[in-house]
Amino acid sequence: MSTYVFDQAWQKELDRLGALESLYDRASRQHLASLGVGDGWRCLEVGAGAGGIARWLADRVGETGQVLATDLDTRFLDAHGRTNLDVLTHNIVADPLEEASFDLVHARAVLVHLPERDKVLPKLVTVLRPGGWLLVEDIDFGGATGPMMTKYLDGPPAAAQAFARVGRAIEAVHRAAGADPSLGSHLAADLRTAGLSNVDAEVHAPLARGGPQTFLRGTVEALAQRLVATGPATTEDIEYILRFCDAPESAYLPPLMVSAWGQRPGA
Ligand SMILES: C[S@@+](CC[C@H](N)C(=O)[O-])C[C@H]1O[C@@H](n2cnc3c(N)ncnc32)[C@H](O)[C@@H]1O
Repeated sequence: MSTYVFDQAWQKELDRLGALESLYDRASRQHLASLGVGDGWRCLEVGAGAGGIARWLADRVGETGQVLATDLDTRFLDAHGRTNLDVLTHNIVADPLEEASFDLVHARAVLVHLPERDKVLPKLVTVLRPGGWLLVEDIDFGGATGPMMTKYLDGPPAAAQAFARVGRAIEAVHRAAGADPSLGSHLAADLRTAGLSNVDAEVHAPLARGGPQTFLRGTVEALAQRLVATGPATTEDIEYILRFCDAPESAYLPPLMVSAWGQRPGA
């Protein structure tokens, strides 16, 4: 059974995934390009969401390459006619994958949600061919990072206070579901522990703007009832933050995205 905190039947999930891509795709593509992804590579995109990175990878590896995009829920995954992009309904925790078969494995904002992440990371390593690259990108908004994010908020003082309370509630809801809101902060260490070589990492923090498609709106709307039930935020805080999200002049720091990469030894 999945403990994924977001209800995938929710009609606005696609908008939320699209907002995530708008914030983080640019840096993800740069990291993937730096690792050398190119013609003929065989790539695995785990928890591919709305598929932006999977389609970019398919274009990058060309006709001689292949991309396998997996997700628990493949409703939003459309290859848009690409013959080198396969879509698979797959639970990364429980379902098998062919070992030593990929040149690149990428997972963004997926492991954070998995209570079994300590078992999934070694599994991602075993599906790499020797010399293949693992790029795991995951968020950090937990612990001391949460209050730090509030410093970057562009809005009235009341917005900063509501943002802090809603942030703590989002963290509580995630922890209650077995997620690790601080995963990004120890991701590089986790990759080293998993036996990868040439491990390195970078933290990316784009300032997010207000507007109807903004990432925070999707998260707060999707979790609203649980935020009030679990955390320190009130219904008024939720309503305030949703209005803040809609204002184009608003700006806030979304979760830090940590990109950590390493290579399977033995090429
Ligand atoms: C926050 S979204 C990130 C989507 C995409 N990786 C991105 O960064 O744009 C998390 C994705 O992981 C998927 N997911 C959650 N648990 C999963 C599991 N056990 N196996 C495969 N996918 C899973 C969800 O369905 C969702 O599409």
